[in-house]
Amino acid sequence: MRAIVITKPGGPEVLEWQEVPDPRPERGEVVIDVTASAVNRADVIQRLGFYDPPPGASPYPGLECSGVISEVGPDAVGFAVGDRVCALLSGGGYAERVAVPWEQVLPAPEGLSLTEAAGLPETVCTVWSNVFMTARLRRGETLLVHGGASGIGTTAIQIAKAFGSRVVVTVGSQEKAERCLELGADEAINYRTEDFAERVEADVILDIMGAKYLPGNVKALKTGGRLVVIGLQGGVKGELDLHMLTRKRAAVHGTTLRSRPAAEKGVVVRGVADNVWPLVSAGAVRPVVHAQVPMAEAAKAHEMLDSGEHVGKILLVG
Ligand SMILES: NC(=O)c1ccc[n+]([C@@H]2O[C@H](COP(=O)([O-])OP(=O)(O)OC[C@H]3O[C@@H](n4cnc5c(N)ncnc54)[C@H](OP(=O)(O)O)[C@@H]3O)[C@@H](O)[C@H]2O)c1
Repeated sequence: MRAIVITKPGGPEVLEWQEVPDPRPERGEVVIDVTASAVNRADVIQRLGFYDPPPGASPYPGLECSGVISEVGPDAVGFAVGDRVCALLSGGGYAERVAVPWEQVLPAPEGLSLTEAAGLPETVCTVWSNVFMTARLRRGETLLVHGGASGIGTTAIQIAKAFGSRVVVTVGSQEKAERCLELGADEAINYRTEDFAERVEADVILDIMGAKYLPGNVKALKTGGRLVVIGLQGGVKGELDLHMLTRKRAAVHGTTLRSRPAAEKGVVVRGVADNVWPLVSAGAVRPVVHAQVPMAEAAKAHEMLDSGEHVGKILLVG
């Protein structure tokens, strides 16, 4: 098969479409013939050499894909050759074929093309596991989402609105603010001109900035609030005001999805199938697709992500 290989750490030009060995299904795995994959910020960090795949994962980038099952390994449950699926991957989505534990595979949702379905697994699983499983966002509560126009942000807005929450986002431009409001956000704060911590009180915060936003996030939490840090775009070490945290009886969580074992990812994936897939089929949650790029030209897709002008997802079409 062919896959995108990171030939050395560096810019988008280090991504090359090369012949590589075909994946074989291990025990508990299925092989998917990939229809499409999608670009995530983590792929850029991997390309730059700062995010090695977890042990045993494919060396090729790509944390999600859609496609058709072409092989079923021993003890892989619930799927058959020919099934149309999408999957949460630990790597290897930028390829013609990928092997993945069956627990991380979802039936392709109704109401979307198989290509569009590639843009869902990573963001939907991230939002479900963090906002709903970890932070337990409830109907009527306020969710603050940093980077509302990102792949993660556009998904979080739609799911949280569908579950009856108030959603406030931060964005870096007026155009992105408008896109988030169109998606259902109740309020969009331009972080370049305003301090979010002066504008919003949130029950749950989904944070991608890490250290830079830690003081503001704790300030913005309501009593009993839950902050979940999933990205470190603003640095890894910050100062936590424990007095404010204890006074508010608030919690700070930090999580990553990629390094979790397949069984744990499986719990997230089943939660998505039960709770989010019906919303996708009903049209309440859809991937926001910024662009579709041929997979062999993944470097172009990375240039787009690096430019920061995108809203939602950039798909790689096989
Ligand atoms: N822990 C996990 O398991 C996990 C899983 C998936 C993703 N993530 C993290 O989630 C983040 C988003 O991922 P993605 O793939 O959706 O990336 P993406 O589409 O490239 O989004 C990055 C976003 O960061 C925003 N941003 C930059 N500076 C900001 C600031 N000062 N304040 C608020 N927002 C700012 C940008 O918004 P503007 O253009 O509006 O500035 C952009 O929308 C990344 O940090 C990624 O590592 C973590």
